[in-house]
Amino acid sequence: MSAASPSSAPPDHASEAVSVAAERRWAYIVMAIIAVLILMMVFTGLHWASMPPSRVETVDIKTLHIKGEFVESNLGTALGSDGKVTVRLIAQQYSFVPQCIVVPADMPVTFRGTASDAIHGFIIGRTNVNTMLIPGFVATFTTIFPRAGEQLMPCHEYCGTGHEAMWARVQVLPTAEFLSKARGGERLSCVPS
Ligand code: CUA
Repeated sequence: MSAASPSSAPPDHASEAVSVAAERRWAYIVMAIIAVLILMMVFTGLHWASMPPSRVETVDIKTLHIKGEFVESNLGTALGSDGKVTVRLIAQQYSFVPQCIVVPADMPVTFRGTASDAIHGFIIGRTNVNTMLIPGFVATFTTIFPRAGEQLMPCHEYCGTGHEAMWARVQVLPTAEFLSKARGGERLSCVPS
């Protein structure tokens, strides 16, 4: 037994040195990957102005369509007396109400949305608008659209068999055109009537 250990000792030490070196190399690679991921999160957070969910605000799903903020006549875009623009919308299997949303360019726009059946969500084109819509909760999101034009707004949470057909359009109007349309105080949308 004692004769075996001196002869096997050198190869053992050599393989240990190799495995330590390999492990250290992997540790450096993993640390580099983690550093890249953290830098990516910081970059996208700052560059795209990604925002965490604002706060927890609940809404009664049973009376959603009957009373309160999300009745059908209150959905769409509203210009408040304080000059603030609010878009109210509901997601349901498999559409958004309203199906076509009007917003102004170069003005803060606050979205307030909820879902009536399953979890939905939406993103708008190449903007930073990206939120989930969860039954019983109000999602809020404030952003500024820098350019006028039309954007697509797909549902981005799998919500059932009709998920990929669930999307709305967003019309970004020049500020002056929007203000002249919204001055009456009624709820705006671009759904063809
Ligand atoms: Cu609604 Cu996916």
